[in-house]
Amino acid sequence: MSTMTDIDRALKAKHRAMWALGDYPAVAADVVGSLGPVLVAACGLRPGDRVLDVAAGSGNAAIPAARAGASVVASDLTPELLAAGQQRAEREGLRLQWRQADAEELPFGDGEFDTVLSCLGVMFAPHHQASADELVRVCRPGGSIGLLNWTPEGFIGQMFATMRPYAPPPPPGAQPPPLWGREDHIRSLLGDRVTEVTAQRGTVRIDMFARPEDFRDYFKASYGPTIAAYRGIAADPQRTAALDTELADLARRHDRGTGSTVMDWEYLLVTARRQP
Ligand SMILES: C[S@@+](CC[C@H](N)C(=O)[O-])C[C@H]1O[C@@H](n2cnc3c(N)ncnc32)[C@H](O)[C@@H]1O
Repeated sequence: MSTMTDIDRALKAKHRAMWALGDYPAVAADVVGSLGPVLVAACGLRPGDRVLDVAAGSGNAAIPAARAGASVVASDLTPELLAAGQQRAEREGLRLQWRQADAEELPFGDGEFDTVLSCLGVMFAPHHQASADELVRVCRPGGSIGLLNWTPEGFIGQMFATMRPYAPPPPPGAQPPPLWGREDHIRSLLGDRVTEVTAQRGTVRIDMFARPEDFRDYFKASYGPTIAAYRGIAADPQRTAALDTELADLARRHDRGTGSTVMDWEYLLVTARRQP
């Protein structure tokens, strides 16, 4: 039985609408498309494994998992993204199940999956302990959990910190996504229900933008959370201009390119085994 309050329901509806803005499938394919395969490789999937991708979006990790021969369920809050992922998988001749689901209330049985993974996904569900409990619950004893999340001090963590003052405050109890990029936070969420925890930081090189402003304009047009931040201040040209400057400056500070923009965006990759 759902324990969700009306405030939670409204927040989830807002999140669902936000992730459908712009063109997240393009962001997944063009900007962070290499990270799904990184996570899948770290999970050591075997053909026939039952895999759940939580907050799968358009299948950045689910599709490579299916390519590796796993039997995959891709779940996400946002049906528009699942539909885009399904089309992409069908073009490749891959069969997966696509299922709308909230990471905090997964519609799956206890221990149903050999591997439960989430790439840049579960971090965006607002109640961290509730989602972590669900990841553990649906993983079979001895099965594996794999998570790839932006770190708070890495580029995307800093992008969220930059946008925060421009957005309305989150409702009480909603936690900031980049906390999932801290090893101590994940260890405490999963607790002694898991063993063999590994954690390593990595970076993904982003070199598709000629200038810092091109990064900003792309995210402003394509990435739901950035579009939503701008929509909230659309009536205020000064704040809009200030956010424009701050986002381009953030990219400039991370730019290690000469001639065109090159950034290394940091993530934390965690694997764990559910206690047998
Ligand atoms: C940055 S995208 C990542 C998508 C995909 N895993 C990838 O690597 O491209 C974040 C995803 O989290 C999903 N999401 C946000 N809140 C969620 C929730 N409470 N339950 C399930 N999915 C959620 C969004 O719909 C979106 O698809």
